[in-house]
Amino acid sequence: MAVNDSPKPQETLANLLTETRHFAPPAELAAHANVTADAYREAADDRLAFWAAQAQRLDWAAPWDRVLDWDNPPFAKWFTGGRLNVAYNCLDRHVLAGHGDRVAIHWEGEPGDTRTITYAELLTEVKKAANALTALGVRAGDRVAIYMPMIPEAAMAMLACARIGATHSVVFGGFSVDALSGRINDAEAKLVITADGGFRRGKANALKPTVDESVALCPSVEKVVVVRRTSEDVAWTDKDVWWHDVVGGASEEHEAEAFDSEHPLFILYTSGTTAKPKGILHTSGGYLTQVSYTHHAVFDLKPETDVYWCGADIGWVTGHSYIVYGPMSNGATQLMYEGTPDTPHRGRYWELIEKYKVTILYTAPTAIRTFMKWGDDIPARFDLSSLRILGSVGEPINPEAWMWYRETIGGGRCPVVDTWWQTETGGIMISPLPGVTSTTPGSAQHALPGISADVVDDEGNSVPNGGGGYLVLRDPWPSMLRTVWGDDQRFLDTYWSKFKGMYFAGDGAKRDDEGNIWLLGRVDDVMLVSGHNISTTEVESALVSHPSVAEAAVVGATDPVTGQAIVAFTILRGETEGGDELVSELRNHVAKTLGPIAKPRQIMVVPELPKTRSGKIMRRLLRDVAENRSLGDVTTLQDSTVMQLISDGMAKSK
Ligand code: WT7
Repeated sequence: MAVNDSPKPQETLANLLTETRHFAPPAELAAHANVTADAYREAADDRLAFWAAQAQRLDWAAPWDRVLDWDNPPFAKWFTGGRLNVAYNCLDRHVLAGHGDRVAIHWEGEPGDTRTITYAELLTEVKKAANALTALGVRAGDRVAIYMPMIPEAAMAMLACARIGATHSVVFGGFSVDALSGRINDAEAKLVITADGGFRRGKANALKPTVDESVALCPSVEKVVVVRRTSEDVAWTDKDVWWHDVVGGASEEHEAEAFDSEHPLFILYTSGTTAKPKGILHTSGGYLTQVSYTHHAVFDLKPETDVYWCGADIGWVTGHSYIVYGPMSNGATQLMYEGTPDTPHRGRYWELIEKYKVTILYTAPTAIRTFMKWGDDIPARFDLSSLRILGSVGEPINPEAWMWYRETIGGGRCPVVDTWWQTETGGIMISPLPGVTSTTPGSAQHALPGISADVVDDEGNSVPNGGGGYLVLRDPWPSMLRTVWGDDQRFLDTYWSKFKGMYFAGDGAKRDDEGNIWLLGRVDDVMLVSGHNISTTEVESALVSHPSVAEAAVVGATDPVTGQAIVAFTILRGETEGGDELVSELRNHVAKTLGPIAKPRQIMVVPELPKTRSGKIMRRLLRDVAENRSLGDVTTLQDSTVMQLISDGMAKSK
């Protein structure tokens, strides 16, 4: 590492936004919290002993010899020599402990149909599915692609793969033939599990035609298992079999075989905005240890009484770690919902919370800002008093969106846990602990016990409090990615080459005067204005702190005077009307909140923002608009008409 000379101003991220609000944990929650401040001390004393203790949360068929093998960094092995079955840990052991009658999944279809599945029933279905996959020729180590709507069979399919040691690759059900066939081919999947379709926005949304087209391009696929969900007509090929035939007819007896701790559990592709997707590989023992522990610690789950709900799709890592493996390894009762939050009305989420008495909600800032935009009167119509903890994930949460979540949804009584992690990290890395941390709106605050996160400058030196730079992870962690599937070199280049001996996350971050970590968005999005590095997140948060603004996206556009100038796109709250007066008020508001350097050159009021399917703003496209370029690739957009609306608005405002 380079000597610690003081960072040059141009090279660090400006630290503009200040936040002084704090919320102590509720006394009652703190008194009974699963995890207390002791955990930080224990982990600081001996990190590996700490993780070894957390691994005891699981049932191991054979004990490990070493907690961590870091002999060939950055290729980590955790709990080497240990053997376990991941599905056994999520199902069998709860049933054996007498909890078979506990509800595992309260499932609600978008049209309003429901299913209640206990742990005993889920175990039986997974055993049958495991037998069916084996009968179809799937063996340990084979890859299975899963392309499903949000129905219980999606979780069953994942667990059945885990049970027989097949490596699943879940592909989000909204992805195209290109995306699906590319992922199937990259992993050379032998089998695809899908459904005729699912319900979305009040309509049957077919999946099978995309699978048919994809499979025609994928020579490795031998069989396709199809769940009947919508009952719409589907074309049929000689590779296709119905789930209800092959699983329905399978034996209920299945003994789970133990696999090596480093046995590949799943591949999940991260959709980089331009480059070929990377197949992120996760393995078994370390992954399950960390997702189980973090779910227990961050959500303070009490399996007997809590009803947990994660609103993510199973196609994202959040669905893998915090719908399937984390909650189920902890014996949670959870709600799983098939559809969108606005169907059949904009109160659907709150109606579900009231109906199932949800106690823990985990959702994304993009959803929270959408709810803000729809207005406070909608959640006000429902009884949300069962809630006790609120989680956020996926993007930086603006302080005002955080406050809205806490007050309007949480009634001012629920801790908000802003959880930072990535597909690559497998599990939560930075987050408050609800019974310990005094929370600060907009900050993910501290690395969890056993995790070494840091903010460094260009030379890789830690920045002092008040400084900004890059987020890195200094030590290996149990649920870390093991490599990029089939491409070790890309694993090294992407994550381990920027700073020697540290994992580079690709996110900008700062440390405030109290030592809290703030995530400031992807480093590719940082703007350079008159020689100052300014984070898009801070300017967006300043805009969202104005009472008229629900959501904002900010980009740096080439400017002859300042190098880059700040161009903002904003969505207004409720019935607010735009206009020149409001725009100039917003520009001044940003200048007042962050300083004149951050004053946007231009602010556009728009009806929607371009987002990826997982809800992240696509700033690349907005940069094209701001710099008057023709639009780049829009195929991964959630709604491809959005860009036209924005370009039209931009043309009008010139
Ligand atoms: C990227 C990872 C983690 C599961 C869902 C996304 C951003 C994620 C936060 C947060 C600020 C966040 C980062 C990260 N991100 N959570 N709490 N605060 N930013 O997984 O698709 O792999 O995306 O999402 O930029 O690098 P992913």
